[in-house]
Order: sequence, then C-alpha cells, then structure tokens
Amino acid sequence: MKVTRPLVCFVILLGLFVMACRNSSSDNAKGLRPADVAAKTDDARDAHSYSNPEQVRVRHVDLDLEVLFDRKVLKGLSTLTIERTQAGADTLKLDTRDLKIIKTEASTGGTNFAPAQFTLSAADKVLGAPLTVQLSPQATKVRIEYETSPSASGVQWLEPAQTAGKRHPYVFTQSQAIHARSWIPLQDSPGARVTYSATIRTPKELRAVMSAGEPHVKAKLLPGNYKFEMPQAIPPYLIALAVGDIASKPLGDRTGVYTEPAMMDRAAREFEDTEKMIVATEKLYGPYRWGRYDILVLPPSFPIGGMENPRLTFATPTILAGDKSLVSLIAHELAHSWSGNLVTNATWRDFWLNEGFTTYLERRVTEAIYGREREEMEAALGLQSLKKEMEDLPEADEILHVDLAGRDPDEGFTLVPYEKGALFLRHLEETFGRERFDQFLKGYFERFAFQSITTADFTEHLKKNLLDPNPQLAAKVPVEEWIYKPGLPASAPKPQSDAFAKVEAQAKGWLEGKTAAAKLQTKQWSTQEWLHFLRFLPRQLNANQLKELDQAFGLTKTGNAEIAHQWLLISIRNKYEPADPRLEEYLTSIGRQKLIKPLYEELVKTPEGRKRALKIYAKARPAYHPIAQTAVDKVVKKA
Ligand code: BES
Ligand code: ZN
Repeated sequence: MKVTRPLVCFVILLGLFVMACRNSSSDNAKGLRPADVAAKTDDARDAHSYSNPEQVRVRHVDLDLEVLFDRKVLKGLSTLTIERTQAGADTLKLDTRDLKIIKTEASTGGTNFAPAQFTLSAADKVLGAPLTVQLSPQATKVRIEYETSPSASGVQWLEPAQTAGKRHPYVFTQSQAIHARSWIPLQDSPGARVTYSATIRTPKELRAVMSAGEPHVKAKLLPGNYKFEMPQAIPPYLIALAVGDIASKPLGDRTGVYTEPAMMDRAAREFEDTEKMIVATEKLYGPYRWGRYDILVLPPSFPIGGMENPRLTFATPTILAGDKSLVSLIAHELAHSWSGNLVTNATWRDFWLNEGFTTYLERRVTEAIYGREREEMEAALGLQSLKKEMEDLPEADEILHVDLAGRDPDEGFTLVPYEKGALFLRHLEETFGRERFDQFLKGYFERFAFQSITTADFTEHLKKNLLDPNPQLAAKVPVEEWIYKPGLPASAPKPQSDAFAKVEAQAKGWLEGKTAAAKLQTKQWSTQEWLHFLRFLPRQLNANQLKELDQAFGLTKTGNAEIAHQWLLISIRNKYEPADPRLEEYLTSIGRQKLIKPLYEELVKTPEGRKRALKIYAKARPAYHPIAQTAVDKVVKKA
C-alpha cells in the first residue's frame, strides 16, 4: 500500500468541510436538467480526483482532437460547459495526467473566448496534476488547448505490426478507472457525469469510433473527419476512442461488430447471440436505454477482457474461441448498460456496485441463454478464483466497501468486488426468492437511472424496499458482514455443478492410473469443463503425465486463450519444456493482463524461471499497454 500523499490528505480534509455534490436526478436523453443534491455523507467524496464539482460543475465536454500517429499524440481543444454549484465560485479544478496545457480561455455564452489564467500544479504519482483555471463570475465555458504525452496511461499507440492487418497503425483509449485525465483535462470522477461531443481528425485511410455511437451520417464530412455526440450524461471513465483500419458489420437491428477486416468474420460468428442477450436482460431489468449496442474487437494488446464503453463495448480478441464458449464476457459488458453505466459507483470505493451487480446480471443472462449448467460452471470457477485470490489478500482488501485512498484504484481491483459482490446478490435472491428480488433490482435501476451512487445509497434503498417489508427473511441476511467485513459469510451461496463433479471423477481416475488420458470421456467437454479439469490437477505432475495429456488433447497448441493460459501455468510449474516456445509466443502476442500476469508470477518463482521471464518480457514489453506494463513491471522487478 502506498503512503498517503499530502495532497490526497488535503483533498480529504477539505472534503470534511465542503459538502460533496453529486448528480442525483434524472439526467437523461431528453436533456432534463439535473438538480444536484448535497451528499448525505462524506462517503460520496472521491479520493481519486482533485476536481471541485461541489463548486463548479462540468456538464458537457466538447472535444476537437487531431490524431497524430507520427508523434503518438492527441492534440486539440477541450471545451467544457460549466455550471456554478456554489455561488461566486471563481476557480475550476480539473484532473490531468502528463498533459501539456498550451492555453486556457473562458467565455460567456461560448462565442468569444478570452484568455484565462491557469496553474498546473505538481503531479502526484497516483492522481496526476490538478489544473486550476481562474473564472470570471459570468464564465459559462472553458476552452483548453492541450496535447497528450506519447506515454499517456490511458492511450495505447500500436505500430502496424501489432495489428491483424499489419498495414496501418492503431490507437485506442482505456479511461477506467482514472485514465481519462491522461487524454482529456476534465473532472475525472465517476460522480461528475457529463454529456460529450467530439470532432476527431484522423489520417484519411483510418476510421474513428467512440463510445457515442455512429458518427453523424447527415453532415457532409471530409475524409478523416468524424463527429460524435453522446447526449446521455455518463461518468468520464466511459469516454472512449479508437482509430484504425476498422470495418463494421451489422449483427441485428441495433447490434453490430467493429473490428479490423481480417477479424470480422470470426468476430461476427462469435457474437451472433448478442441481440438475444439484450432481449434477455431487458426482460429481467427493463429497457436497454442506449439505442445501439455495438462491439469493437481490438488488437490483442488490449489490456483487459472487456470495457463497457456505452453503445460500443471494447473487447479483447482472446474471447474469440470459435464456439461462443467465452461470450459471457459480452453478457457482462452488456449488463453494465444497467449496472455501471445507468447506475454508477459514486467513487471507486463503491466499485462493487458496478462489478458485483454486473457479475450477478451476467450470470443471470448466461443462464437465460446458455442454461443453468453453464452458468453454475462459471459461478463455480469464479468462486474458486476468488477463494484462491483471497488467500494472499490483506483482510482490508476483502471488504466490498474497500478503502482505496492513496492507492491507484487499478491496484485495488481484485475479484472481491466481482465475485463476492455477485454472491451477496445471489444470497439475497435465494433468501427473498427470484420473483421478489428481480422486481427489487428492476426498481433499483429505475430509481437510480443516470445517477452515481454510494454504497450507503444502495443499503438505504435495500432496507426500505426489500429488508423492512420482509423482516423475517431479512434476519437471515448479514448485510453488514457482507459489505463491511473481510472474508465470506458462512451462509454464502455455493454454486453446484454436476458436470464439474463428473470432471473431477474422471480426473481422479486418470491420476490414480485407472484410465489412460486418451480414454477419458472429454469429447463433449466445454471450455469450462476443461478449465476445471486443469485447475483440479495437483500442482506437481511428472513429465510422463504432462506428455500424456498433451499427446491426447493437444493442449500446447490449443487456440483457446483461456485453456492455453491454464495449461501454460501447469507447464511452467512442472518445467514442461515442449511448451516453452508456445509460452513465449503467447506472452509476446497477447497483452490481456488477466492472461499474462499470472504466467509471469509463476515464472519468477524460480531463478531459472525469472531469467526466462526477463528475457521474454524484454521482447514483449514494448507491445504491452501502459497499464499492463506497470502491472508486469511490478512482478518481474520484485525479489
Ligand atoms: N469495467 C471492467 C473493466 C475494468 C475494471 C477496467 C476496472 C478498468 C478498471 C469490465 O467490465 C470488466 O469487468 N472486464 C472483465 C471481464 C469480465 C467478464 C469479468 C475483464 O476485463 O476481465
Ligand atoms: Zn465489469
């Protein structure tokens, strides 16, 4: 854990005297005016932002950016529409990280801009540097001319060689949790929702896409000029941009795939159930409110599995397994259209409201489309991973309402908000019954739509709408323990999978020498059963056993990135040399943190492994995303 910096302390102290202000009303597509209400508790203050929405609030961000591939820089203007939340406030405080601020101006009305004074203070390692702009009493807009750094934490610039087509460069952003500030100066706090518009200027042969839907088709645009409009107020971590050789193909009336031409057919086939998923989620939790739902499949260096950018989910190509077996990730990102994008965590402490709810919704949608058996397998895998991760976590990080002050929220992210959060909701579902709980959740999304809320807002709503009306059932749910205590309550639900029980029986038969690998009944196994089988095996296996498995099932050469990951972990642990070239190929061609980091962690456990890790990493690192570089740097530099 990092030492709390003086500036962070200052922000926190300041917050004790200042009423934090959040967007607590219906801020929706119809453009209803949000009336901020003062937060009920200090809880709503965001320890990860320098901004001052409680005094001056940014309502709209208008971007005009040039995409300069030769310099790896985004350069242009960000014009912020502001509103006073405190009478007489004369400074606007924004978040930035590694931005070069060229000029700031202010305007009344937005026609004529006059120079405004600004101060860019010293940068904090976690939070970046606060940008303070002086305002005249009448100012309603602030325009900032700036450019990004080539090493901006939220932007990855790819050489043509890192793309599928190999001919054009590519760039994409990843703003969650606090990286939006590395490419846009703004109030980078999930409570400070904004609408946005953008003009993106790209090389003529490339296409820009954003988390705002299709560029205007009506306006006559020059080649390389793209316009976007996001009329719904979203938290800044959902602003996203990608530019490259990007094609698109419709899936259904409101769904489609964007990706490089070389990956289009595979992607479109993998995601053919997307419309069905939307229908299933709507049936449970009310209408999909964002118009289109498209999926952008990124090049393999995308550092995460998926990102729920509104109207345009960003996804890793490592879920293209060929058999739709990894598409729960799409169910997950889609589910964020309710939990996360519609109802948003007010601060990163409340992250479990985003991810726990979404993991729960994801499982419900998976059950609706692919059946209970598949859902239970995924829930069981999730619980296994959670328990394993918790073995090494400090107790404080096993708490849903986790304290992340002074730390980079990227560091605090574990499976706890996801899997423990989802289990808590499942426990509520099992206690109150599906029908009642589904009603409750639907009402929750309706009640808090287009708002950013704290854990306390949720518990208050829960008490009033589910616990108090059913006191006998409520007595069975240790709400305080679930949210504010480490570990899992004794009454935590236990996913049950018959299929996994059968996998275990087969694995035992093989381990005891009763059945040869080639004779195991694996033909019908799904990806999830394979993952369970591989995780179920003991840590130590001998050379013959590894060879037998590999010969029978071709594990070293599997094209399924999740199964390959599990097999490579086993190979490293047991020094199975035939898999060495595959490991190097895997680590140099994929940048998804969840898949690469554990392999480096396994490698550095032995001196020879460490050597290999360093050698492979030297080759792989330049192609990793800045976020993944930071994470893997920590692994290989340790000990
Ligand atoms: N919003 C997250 C990704 C994220 C979290 C990015 C925190 C940055 C900071 C996204 O919805 C997510 O959870 N993705 C998962 C996949 C999911 C199926 C668990 C991932 O990327 O692995
Ligand atoms: Zn998520």
